[in-house]
Amino acid sequence: MSHPSPLIIALDYPDADAALAMARRLDPARVRVKVGKELFTATGPAVLDELHELGFEVFLDLKFHDIPNTVAAAVRAAAARGVWMVNVHAGGGLRMMEAARDAAAGAGSSRPMVTAVTVLTHLGADELHEVGVADSPGVQVHRLARLAQRAGLDGVVCSAREAEALRAELGPDFRLVAPGIRPAGSSEDDQSRVQTPGAARAAGVDDLVIGRPVTQAEDPAAAVDAILGELN
Ligand code: C5P
Repeated sequence: MSHPSPLIIALDYPDADAALAMARRLDPARVRVKVGKELFTATGPAVLDELHELGFEVFLDLKFHDIPNTVAAAVRAAAARGVWMVNVHAGGGLRMMEAARDAAAGAGSSRPMVTAVTVLTHLGADELHEVGVADSPGVQVHRLARLAQRAGLDGVVCSAREAEALRAELGPDFRLVAPGIRPAGSSEDDQSRVQTPGAARAAGVDDLVIGRPVTQAEDPAAAVDAILGELN
């Protein structure tokens, strides 16, 4: 299904009421929404149904990482709920990602996209070394992104700062989904290496994941309009 907007609004809330109240202030023709671990753990999958009823396409950001059989079953469960995108950890390996891909394909025309997280952005070189990865975060990001592509996944979640190099390496058809987006002049919150929406798109990002600059705005719909305006 094609959608006219590259914006995915992160609904990072502790309960369904708050998440749905925000969703009702947004236009499903102008944005998609993301449900992450906090909201999903608090509410269960009912919140997905409610967001679908409001007309939104949903990115279910649960970063599955388990044995292939279990990840495949989780992807099937997500597909049965009708989500637009689901993600896994590329560190789960090629067979795990292939199992996720095949499980999604089983949903036929309502197949969710499957993307992979490479290296979580809070991990620096020292912390990677502690878990046995001798390479730099950048090298590891590219290694895992290539593996995700080999597994037949639709794309990766990456930092906008990595997008240009990933786009060059992985070609035009591999989806790049980037958080850490901040419109010029807005607070960085706890993000460290932010990019503006325009710079992220210019670097080759397909989907911009934006939370607080929209959800904490006095007028979230106007904040969306301003971001989309900057992109046109
Ligand atoms: O509010 P903010 O725009 O920072 O929200 C960004 C969203 O993207 C949050 O849901 C956050 O968990 C997620 N995310 C991130 N950085 C990553 C991966 C995911 O900010 N590396």
